[in-house]
Amino acid sequence: MKPFIYITRKLPETLIQPLQDRYEVEMWDQDDVQVPREVLLEKAGKASALLTMLSDRIDGELLDQGEHLKVVANLAVGFDNIDVAYAKEKGVAVCNTPDVLTETTADLAFGLMMATARRIVEGDRYIREGEWKSWSPLLLAGADIHHKTLGIVGMGSIGEAVARRAKGFSMDVLYHNRNRRPEAEEALGAAFRSLDELLKESDFVVVLAPLTEETKGLFQKEQFDMMKDSAIFINAARGPIVDEDALVEAIREGMIAGAGLDVFTQEPISMDHPLLSLDRVVVLPHIGSSSVDTRYDMVRLCTDNIQAVLEGKEPRTAL
Ligand code: GLV
Ligand code: GLV
Repeated sequence: MKPFIYITRKLPETLIQPLQDRYEVEMWDQDDVQVPREVLLEKAGKASALLTMLSDRIDGELLDQGEHLKVVANLAVGFDNIDVAYAKEKGVAVCNTPDVLTETTADLAFGLMMATARRIVEGDRYIREGEWKSWSPLLLAGADIHHKTLGIVGMGSIGEAVARRAKGFSMDVLYHNRNRRPEAEEALGAAFRSLDELLKESDFVVVLAPLTEETKGLFQKEQFDMMKDSAIFINAARGPIVDEDALVEAIREGMIAGAGLDVFTQEPISMDHPLLSLDRVVVLPHIGSSSVDTRYDMVRLCTDNIQAVLEGKEPRTAL
């Protein structure tokens, strides 16, 4: 019997062809609705490999169910949805998609920063809502990006790619990271700061850290309070790094000027969330790595990793 592979979201057929040629492959048939938990648990019971989304919870219950499971390939660089330690204990390889999405995600983080600073989305709404009566000197006047100070929290490869973009805009780049990154300091002229120092000095604070026990709830009222009242906060990492109630309060009370968010504690964010009532907040539906080329590369990396593990070889990117 061919090994069974379950894919938790509808993906382009051409990309999964290499797996279909060798294995029994089944795919959840919708691209905008998550696979229900019961279905995922049932499929995990038969599967040798799972190709999962960041919205699927791969926890102890699921791993215990996966008697034949050899590999979980997650279509994301982040893997906070997976109990990696337990998977390893059970001999299940866990693969993510680093590197292929670095530049694309940095583009989005930088774009979100620009959109928030220069009020690009508000401008679009303004025209479509028929508000535009005349050119006016301070119409939608925003904040400059060039020559300002960017503080990057989480200096992994995406952080470095954002720093490279910032250099092109003549920005001063500060960073905070668990470990100092001397190569990045040298190559990019980025200066290390404690988190508190970075928050006090930066005009833009961009979060690109993974969600871990250390980063969960890292941004509270106290952190926003330390930031300049003109500062703009960008989160392109994971929602739970930020206390969203504190963020709403910080913007309402003028502790900071605005925020650009690609991620939320609850995804999708509920339509009555107070963040959505604030003009100086730009929101995106977790699309950091979503260019066609990069998403295709990510799927190919997942299918290559699955195939490698099932053939007893080293996957390209394992945790
Ligand atoms: C997206 O958020 C990812 O982790 O790849
Ligand atoms: C703006 O469009 C200007 O001409 O200053």
